[in-house]
Amino acid sequence: MKFAPGSSACKFNDRSCRTIAGRARRTYSRDMTVAPVPTAPLRPVPRHLLAIEAMPAAEITRFLNLAQRYVDQNRSPDKKRDLLHGKTLVNLFFENSTRTRTSFELAGKRLGADVINMAVAVSSIKKGETLIDTAMTLNAMHLDVLVVRHPESGAVKLLADKVNCVVINAGDGHHEHPTQALLDGLTIRLRRGHLDGLKVAICGDILHSRVARSNIHLLNAMGAHVRVVAPPTLLPADIARLGAEVHHRMESGLADVDIVMMLRLQTERMSGQYVPSIREYFHFFGLTREKLKAARPDALIMHPGPMNRGVEIDSEVADDIKRSVILDQVELGVAVRMACLDLLTRDTNSTTG
Ligand code: NCD
Repeated sequence: MKFAPGSSACKFNDRSCRTIAGRARRTYSRDMTVAPVPTAPLRPVPRHLLAIEAMPAAEITRFLNLAQRYVDQNRSPDKKRDLLHGKTLVNLFFENSTRTRTSFELAGKRLGADVINMAVAVSSIKKGETLIDTAMTLNAMHLDVLVVRHPESGAVKLLADKVNCVVINAGDGHHEHPTQALLDGLTIRLRRGHLDGLKVAICGDILHSRVARSNIHLLNAMGAHVRVVAPPTLLPADIARLGAEVHHRMESGLADVDIVMMLRLQTERMSGQYVPSIREYFHFFGLTREKLKAARPDALIMHPGPMNRGVEIDSEVADDIKRSVILDQVELGVAVRMACLDLLTRDTNSTTG
């Protein structure tokens, strides 16, 4: 039986695939008396960032602490370092994105990497290439970091199991968006000094939100109290298992909270009717100055973007410079992604297991 390294037929991890492939190739060369195909030297098993779930608080803190150092660097005139000089980062986005893709691109470039954006519309995916074929193609290009966004939950993990480089999940379906949660955590920590003990309300379309899932895991790990506020139709069945207190009314959900995190109504992920009308949704769940009165007077307003003004958030509160930290989130996103690139490539360079 012949396996190409990491081929779609291969059910093993990269290291075992290479061993099997190496054996297969030697047999082939003996039988057919052709020159042996040179095999690439084994590289250390890469570390990926696929999810916040199960990430210990100490590891989250490690990312946040390093990101905080990059915040200062990004605010200084000299923003560029050559830490990732000679490394190649590919942004592979199977879904539209402006801020996350740009943020990773900036992060990679500020650390000195060569950054390539693979636009899915012109890639082979449109021609029916499978995810595994894509992985094999990327392996042949000797990448160092692959940043992936995909509409299917679990697709990024599937790719990560097959490629020979660090993989960062930039959002997979409804599942997770780990760097968004890290940047949200950093935004809160920089404004409040800590995360533990804070009351955080995550409001809106929880059902379709990978941002909500990653944030619930991160905030719980860091000792915050998480509430979710949404109509029953926009809550996943397993919400209680995730560790959040459920509210169906903004008034009770926002009572005394320190942080109000609004989510976009993700109509592109909806098949069928989840809310009676946008107008009614805004009436009951849209964040307005009036509803915000239930929260603490200094409560911060967050939103991962892109915002639907007049749907989940009123412009008056979104643009309130005293309360809204939405642009901080964008700024800190670059620093968090630099920290992720730094730590993940550093660990890959120094570990073998
Ligand atoms: C989020 C996403 O893509 O999951 N946005 C983002 O990363 N900036 C949230 C959203 O699309 O509403």
